Amino acid sequence: MIQTPKFSRITGTGSALPGAPIGNAELIAARGLDSSDEWIVERTGIRSRHLAAPGVTASELALPACRHALEAAGRTPADVDLVIVATSTPDYVFPSTAALLQAKLGIANGAAAFDLQAVCSGFVYALSVAEKFIRSGSHRCALIVGSEVFSRILDWSDRGTCVLFGDGAGAVVLEASDEPGILATALHADGSHHGMLSVPGQVGGGQVTGDPFLRMDGQAVFKFAVKVLADVANEVLETAGVSVDQLDWLIPHQANVRILSATAKKLHVPAGKCIVSVDRHGNTSAASIPLALDEAVRQGTIKRGETVLLEGVGGGFTWGAALLKF
Ligand code: ACO
Repeated sequence: MIQTPKFSRITGTGSALPGAPIGNAELIAARGLDSSDEWIVERTGIRSRHLAAPGVTASELALPACRHALEAAGRTPADVDLVIVATSTPDYVFPSTAALLQAKLGIANGAAAFDLQAVCSGFVYALSVAEKFIRSGSHRCALIVGSEVFSRILDWSDRGTCVLFGDGAGAVVLEASDEPGILATALHADGSHHGMLSVPGQVGGGQVTGDPFLRMDGQAVFKFAVKVLADVANEVLETAGVSVDQLDWLIPHQANVRILSATAKKLHVPAGKCIVSVDRHGNTSAASIPLALDEAVRQGTIKRGETVLLEGVGGGFTWGAALLKF
């Protein structure tokens, strides 16, 4: 008989960043950009990011992040029965980055593995999907990963986008539990806004057709992001019967310090409870939330038993939130 656990809980976190941090001035000089450290810091709060060397893939970045998360959870690859990788920059068209990662980790037990594409909301989407798998009783130990090499889809002649992003990976182990972990999740999308943020290219006839670079209406994204991040945060708080005052930490998608501050303000969450890593990582899309979470956990900022709200927003448009007891 299938045992249905009451809860699913994060039991370990991990992350990985490629190479050394690249500061704004260094990036501007290396790419010959018509920009300045002052402009980037003032408009985005970003001071540096990590960029993967040519040829480094999302599954390669995910590998050490997963190993760290498994170690923190006290688990081995053989314990994992589900691998979900949230990415918009997969290694190949197919097979999935999750299948490649499963092989790299040496998971040889036939664990299910698939990619999930919800751009910057990908990690929250993947966490929510895995939570449902686990609570249904079909799976017991999931590796949920956000891994991106966004530098591959940036147009380095577009100063309005290329300074915003970075590469990296973050992972969590989510397990069946008798103790509360994930308290509530909410996922949403509105495809009518597909043109606001997109990479409108495709592989066809042996060629890339259309535009293979990220395009964005920055101001429209900004306004949309702040609104839906506040709405979806309130939605999961209400579902779980948790008040804003009971929140210990807020980890919004790390796109821009101004979006983070505006969201925290709209939610009446004090700035000190909002985890910020975008200043050092740039926007790493699906990796941004697990990267920020792992960093805060390893620094001792987020502790066991604390109430944490994760929320993402990204191309699609997609958005979602997960409220949890860490
Ligand atoms: N350096 C110097 N000048 C720049 C740069 C740059 N890197 N980029 C743009 N500019 C210039 C523009 O060309 C423009 O010049 P002009 O007035 O001579 O025409 C001027 O700065 C103002 O441009 P705006 O686009 O109006 O600047 P804005 O204040 O809106 O800031 C930004 C742009 C930072 C992109 C902002 O709109 C933003 O943060 N939007 C949110 C987008 C975001 O975070 N996207 C991430 C992906 S989406 C996601 O993760 C959900």
